[in-house]
Amino acid sequence: MTTLAGITTIKDLPIENKRVFIRVDFNVPLEEQPDGKQVITDDARIVEALPTIKHALERGARVILASHLGRPKKGPDPKLSMEPIGMRLAELLGLEVHIPEDCIGDAAKKVVFDLRAGQVCLLENLRFHPEEEKDDEGFAAKLAELCDVYVDDAFGAVHRAHASVHALPKMMRERGCGFLLEKEIAALGKIVTNPDKPFVAVLGGAKVSDKIAVLDALLEKVDALIIGGAMANTFLAARGANMQASKVEEDKFPLARTILEKAREKKVDLVLPIDVVVAQNISASEGQVVDVGAIPEGFMALDIGPKSIALFQQWFDKAKSVFWNGPMGLFERPAFSNGTFSVARALANSKAFTVIGGGDSAAAVKEAGDDVAKKISHISTGGGASLELIEGKKLPGIEVLRRAAPPPS
Ligand code: 3PG
Repeated sequence: MTTLAGITTIKDLPIENKRVFIRVDFNVPLEEQPDGKQVITDDARIVEALPTIKHALERGARVILASHLGRPKKGPDPKLSMEPIGMRLAELLGLEVHIPEDCIGDAAKKVVFDLRAGQVCLLENLRFHPEEEKDDEGFAAKLAELCDVYVDDAFGAVHRAHASVHALPKMMRERGCGFLLEKEIAALGKIVTNPDKPFVAVLGGAKVSDKIAVLDALLEKVDALIIGGAMANTFLAARGANMQASKVEEDKFPLARTILEKAREKKVDLVLPIDVVVAQNISASEGQVVDVGAIPEGFMALDIGPKSIALFQQWFDKAKSVFWNGPMGLFERPAFSNGTFSVARALANSKAFTVIGGGDSAAAVKEAGDDVAKKISHISTGGGASLELIEGKKLPGIEVLRRAAPPPS
């Protein structure tokens, strides 16, 4: 369900002077420096959580922040410590951020019980305990010992039935969502349940197999489905085009044909690239534009071409809602970034309600320039979570926050 029905927002929770556990998604990209230091390369998820954190601090809560970081496999890993994130948060808040060396037990209790109203701590990486990913109730109970109120603002993690997202809120009488989670559910919910028409979805990325469920769900709702990126190669090849050395998933041809057929039945305009930027390998410093069907032997499609961009633009001009997930090419390389950045700019200049579904497309929008990102209606902080929501799935971290409606009197 993609509404806020039955979910209390932080504004209506009794947080004054209480110990408030805020589950955030501070799973930010890190880059290791030659001296071994981990440096944050994109702090958007921290910045986006600030309104909730500041609200709680201003209302005199004792704020306990908790997040996972990366996927540590064998317990604590110093490379995945929350330390650099705590430092960035302290800069952004202009406050000291205490970090206990563990998220549960005496170390955590010492810091948490010393907090005064308006002070904040950040627990160490929740995934240093394998119980977190097992939705373990014993582990959740240890987190529950630390707090009086539970707030989830970790949109990027609500599709995970993990202890801090699922078992813990189940145990908490006072629970609800923060402003980021509220904003994400409202924006993605609108796209899923009540999009203004025409509604256009743009999907890209490497693999058809990653997007089957979302393709299927979108075909029920959209007026046009635009496909770019390496995914489009599989569709084009399934329709008979010779994609030469392009990346193609041959085992997905039957599936691509089923999707093309379904689009025809539903009268959805399924739009594929008509020209592409090709090169002989991915490290080429420049590409050459050719029509689909005229790719030279030994060359591979690495971006969409200008005619495709113009074709897609026709839909962007008339759309009232657009959802975009997945790049149009190998945008990390300047020679093959034009398609992805052009789509980002087109959406920024469109009058439609525009939603970007996290991950690579969110990164591309930011790279396309500050002015571009600012003009997008909503850039989701969740990759997997936003796709699962669009697919119409019930997400465990959202469902657990709902309260049953009171029985009729
Ligand atoms: C994400 O980055 O998509 C979320 O933080 C979830 O992380 P995970 O895929 O490791 O569970």
